[in-house]
Amino acid sequence: MKVFITRKIPNRGLELLTQNKIDFEMSELDRPLTPDELKAKVAGVDGILSQLVDKITAEVMDAAGKQLKVVANYAVGFDNVSVKDATNRHILVTNTPDVLTDSVADHAFALMMAAARRVVESDRFSRAGKYQGWQPFLLLGQEVYGKTLGIIGSGRIGSALAMRAAKGFNMKVLYHDQKPNENLENEIGAKFVTKEELLKNSDFVSLHVPLLPETKHLISTHEFEMMKKTAVLVNTARGPVVDEQALLKALRNGDIFAAGIDVWENEPKLTPGLEDLENIVITPHTASATVETRENMSLVAAQNIIAALKGETPPNLVKIQ
Ligand code: GLV
Ligand code: GLV
Repeated sequence: MKVFITRKIPNRGLELLTQNKIDFEMSELDRPLTPDELKAKVAGVDGILSQLVDKITAEVMDAAGKQLKVVANYAVGFDNVSVKDATNRHILVTNTPDVLTDSVADHAFALMMAAARRVVESDRFSRAGKYQGWQPFLLLGQEVYGKTLGIIGSGRIGSALAMRAAKGFNMKVLYHDQKPNENLENEIGAKFVTKEELLKNSDFVSLHVPLLPETKHLISTHEFEMMKKTAVLVNTARGPVVDEQALLKALRNGDIFAAGIDVWENEPKLTPGLEDLENIVITPHTASATVETRENMSLVAAQNIIAALKGETPPNLVKIQ
């Protein structure tokens, strides 16, 4: 059994593969592979351990060959893998949920706080030597404690953020999803509302949906118009969920107070103009980037590969959405 790992990952999962006598090759390049390099490298393998920047298309699967049994994505999101084409070829697709829930929820909270309290802007101001002494109106932000948080998508990460907000910051939680989330309602009294009600009434709006044709540009001009002028938007889901041109306009016009984004519409390219704005905090898709989480993701991806190659159902099998 042979596995190809498209880029270096932490050791924990690699050790498990070795213990299970699974032969693997790991790309040594310090960059993602091009589609052609990827196709050449996967030829003849039984499993691919992919990154979210690798497009695992029908072509890549066919380049691997009929023996390919599993694509284990090193991420919770799997919009980079054509699950439909995999399913048609009896190839299993897996992801790494749960182990990154807390790190991503922590990061979403960090973006909320940083954007509301102008932390990064204040840091730039201080380093530039602009501070002339205490002033009543210097760098005023928005209060976070006790405010209303609206989460769009109440899955694992959205719920974990909501819990932090309700329990630690006494925030009222509104949520929008395809169906009600009883656990969230019972635990913190979260209220199920329409997208419109959520946008109109939330002080903070945080996105936690997968990228699907129907969630592309879920937040665009019309949505920014519905939001409060004092609102903060946070995106740790997938970049294209937000129309970045519309975000640029909304931030420039003051239609919302600020934004915190970890994911960008066209990574690694940022919509020109965003870098000049003070009212946006931007991180480079690092919400799950903690030492612990990345080790655990490598372990989970390896567990999925091992189960699939043994002919068992992997713990984190994903289905066509
Ligand atoms: C990161 O974006 C992930 O999907 O794990
Ligand atoms: C601020 O530093 C205060 O003492 O209120």
